[in-house]
Amino acid sequence: MIRVAVNGYGTIGKRVADAVAEQPDMEVAGVAKTRPNYEARAAVDRGFPLYAAVEERAPRFEEAGIDIAGMVDDLVAEADVVVDACPSGIGAENRSLYETYDTPAIYQGGEDADVADVSFNARSNFEEAQGADHVRVVSCNTTGLSRLLAPLLESYGVEKARITLVRRGGDPAQTGRGPINDILPNPVSLPSHHGPDVNTIFPDLDIDTLGLKVPATLMHMHSVNVTLADAPTAEAVTALLADESRMFLATPDLGVDGTAAAKELALDAGRPRGDLWENCVWSESITVEDDDLYLFQAIHQESDVVPENVDAIRAILGEADASSSMATTDEALGMGL
Ligand SMILES: NC(=O)c1ccc[n+]([C@@H]2O[C@H](COP(=O)([O-])OP(=O)(O)OC[C@H]3O[C@@H](n4cnc5c(N)ncnc54)[C@H](OP(=O)(O)O)[C@@H]3O)[C@@H](O)[C@H]2O)c1
Repeated sequence: MIRVAVNGYGTIGKRVADAVAEQPDMEVAGVAKTRPNYEARAAVDRGFPLYAAVEERAPRFEEAGIDIAGMVDDLVAEADVVVDACPSGIGAENRSLYETYDTPAIYQGGEDADVADVSFNARSNFEEAQGADHVRVVSCNTTGLSRLLAPLLESYGVEKARITLVRRGGDPAQTGRGPINDILPNPVSLPSHHGPDVNTIFPDLDIDTLGLKVPATLMHMHSVNVTLADAPTAEAVTALLADESRMFLATPDLGVDGTAAAKELALDAGRPRGDLWENCVWSESITVEDDDLYLFQAIHQESDVVPENVDAIRAILGEADASSSMATTDEALGMGL
């Protein structure tokens, strides 16, 4: 069994820990937190050994009546691999800790690309992460775009991608984020950081991205235009995407008219936390005009990177190839709606 440490047990970290616990070849060695809050209690309830991430704050756990198994250093030392899911920037600060104990590490998309040897998306460049010591799973938006672009590149070739990203203002629990009542060009200048981030996965891809922020918390929405080298029919693109395990096609019969219904569908399906790990592509939006493909896809920012982190664990340890890792991850999670 691969013993996985999760350092940073928030929105992404707690989901990754649960996903790891579901895998047949992995177990959670422990999770690290700075505060004894409700998430700390949930970790203990789930049976995950809990470690203090900041030495001076360790006594607070005991004061709150929560037993800890030790300090984060102990966890990193004994784990086979660590998934760092700390807030943006903290992962880079933690890198020296992982190097001290020679523990391979996986970082999240809030870190700069140079935190790691490789930026990672399982569908697109699994092999590049095999045997690396430091791997960055790209952001939720870049993950969603990579999953879409990989099969398009393979099947038709891409001349140019133009994506407008309508981004949620914050996650549901992020009470301090916004806007509350506005539509922000964000960033106002082009390109948004997403295009260059996609280029960490596909260096030669010609891509322009524009970003907005809106008063929503559930998901991001991408308005996609891709000029293809060999133009297929819309039906062929639909069939291509339907074949991808991490794409969910919202067909008209389902009546999923937006991100709220997509989230409700995931909740009704019994998904943990109502997570939609797949890209949600509206099949009716898939249109081909001359060489140009158009579509809308929604990205559940809190969860689409979760299966990617699980695959990154197998990649970094050289434990599987892309298709077998993705199949194992998907089956253990219950992917498919
Ligand atoms: N949320 C998203 O939509 C999303 C999507 C894709 C990627 N990401 C990326 O994933 C990373 C984590 O984001 P997130 O949304 O999960 O953040 P988050 O919800 O704020 O969770 C991070 C957790 O790390 C803990 N923490 C803070 N400092 C720490 C330290 N020094 N050591 C250990 N734990 C520490 C905090 O909890 P305590 O202080 O209570 O321990 C916090 O809850 C970021 O790089 C982000 O850009 C986020």
